[in-house]
Amino acid sequence: MGDDIIVSIHSDQDMVVARAQSRSLADSLGFSRTEATLIATAVSEIARNILMHAGRGEISMRPLREDVRCGLIVVAQDSGPGIRDVSRAVESGFASTGGLGLGLPGARRLMDEFEIESEPSEGTTVTMTKWRMRDDLERLRERRLRRVVDPGP
Ligand SMILES: Nc1ncnc2c1ncn2[C@@H]1O[C@H](COP(=O)(O)OP(=O)(O)OP(=O)(O)O)[C@@H](O)[C@H]1O
Ligand SMILES: [Mg+2]
Repeated sequence: MGDDIIVSIHSDQDMVVARAQSRSLADSLGFSRTEATLIATAVSEIARNILMHAGRGEISMRPLREDVRCGLIVVAQDSGPGIRDVSRAVESGFASTGGLGLGLPGARRLMDEFEIESEPSEGTTVTMTKWRMRDDLERLRERRLRRVVDPGP
């Protein structure tokens, strides 16, 4: 889709880019500064996991626009070693390496929807979504604007 933002994750610098991109996408979708920071934090943790546990991967982000709500979906993919026990990995304190095991449970808490698909030796895909309810005034404004842009027959 044309709206997709794709960030390859190979280095610390890419993590910074993913964080900044998610924050600016959240801003453009009307999330508050606080919410945008929480989203950027979740994206940072997932990007850091790609670097630490898989070496490299890719994060894509896309806006979701519905009538009563809008949001953003983040898909992080890698072809690393995978996670053998996904349900344990999202528990606080589970870490295979030197980490604290807070990244996945933290990201899950910060987002509204959170899913991990992983097969040992095939890689990992983390999909997470954050929603924002749109209020009546905002929807009314959009309908007016649409009428001005496209007055119809
Ligand atoms: N992309 C990934 N590929 C392979 N394993 C992963 C991946 N992401 C997470 N894991 C596994 O899940 C565990 C938990 O991840 P989590 O981010 O919660 O903790 P951590 O990265 O070990 O430490 P922290 O994020 O607190 O520094 C990791 O220790 C690792 O075993
Ligand atoms: Mg981590």
